[in-house]
Amino acid sequence: MNENRPLAHIDDWEQSLHARYPSGQKTAPTTVSLPLAAPIDSATVLEASHRPREEFRNYAAPARETVRDFYRLNHHHQTLDFVLQKKQQYLPPRRLEMGIWEAMEFLNTLVDDSDPDADFSQIEHLVQTAEAIRRDGHPRWCILTGLIHDLGKILCLFGEPQWAVVGDTFPVGCPFSDKIVFSEFFSDNPDLSDPRLQTPHGIYSPGCGLDRLHLSWGHDEYLYQVVKAFLPEPALWMIRYHSFYPGHREQAYDRFMTDRDQEMFGWVRAFNPYDLYSKGAERPNVETLKPFYLDLISEFFPKKLWW
Ligand SMILES: [Fe+2]
Ligand SMILES: [Fe+2]
Repeated sequence: MNENRPLAHIDDWEQSLHARYPSGQKTAPTTVSLPLAAPIDSATVLEASHRPREEFRNYAAPARETVRDFYRLNHHHQTLDFVLQKKQQYLPPRRLEMGIWEAMEFLNTLVDDSDPDADFSQIEHLVQTAEAIRRDGHPRWCILTGLIHDLGKILCLFGEPQWAVVGDTFPVGCPFSDKIVFSEFFSDNPDLSDPRLQTPHGIYSPGCGLDRLHLSWGHDEYLYQVVKAFLPEPALWMIRYHSFYPGHREQAYDRFMTDRDQEMFGWVRAFNPYDLYSKGAERPNVETLKPFYLDLISEFFPKKLWW
């Protein structure tokens, strides 16, 4: 196994989510009615993808093994110290200046070993998510959020191992929930032997708010920090917490959340089906769509921003 790249394809992790959270499964209750243009229903997203549910990658044994290897590494290495060290290394973003479209093209240079059923480029995946949101008549900032939500994966191109870029995120600095996928692998995590981190709330206090928690390091937090000055708050929630399945799907960290956090989670849950189920059988025509998206990007972002 390659310690840095246990997954043949960086998106194998997202594919594995389909098995865990099949489309149509009820999510945790949303406490707000979203001021989106139309109610979001994953069935609609799925239908729009022109692809029957069974055709989403059959999460077969070989892929399952690499996902296990991936989580074994992720749960071993994502410690409080590791996360704090990555935050120091990358935040505030100061490594290079790039425009949004430029970052999309940069991410597109990420080469994967193999992808058994979809040879879509990273740009095509991003455009598909955005197009599914656009098709349902949602606001422009929401479409833009779909377009950029995974750009943090450029961390891979900065040399980060897959387990520090993708995967479900979860708080460090407090006990690991058994609701986290493959939670048995936390037995290898050094934080387990730090009694300071193993009290019921660890280094946090009840109701302290999600913003106070250090989540495991990955593409969500990184991109949030890159774009936080430019997008409306719901967009930032979607970006920052879209991989926090133990929180928004399993509700395993309610004890730290405020009423406001619960309300804002409504946006994350509304976004989730577009992220998970919008991968269609047809390639989007990126060149034809590009002018629309360049225009949308320039409406919210400066020509260049720091990564
Ligand atoms: Fe993502
Ligand atoms: Fe995604």
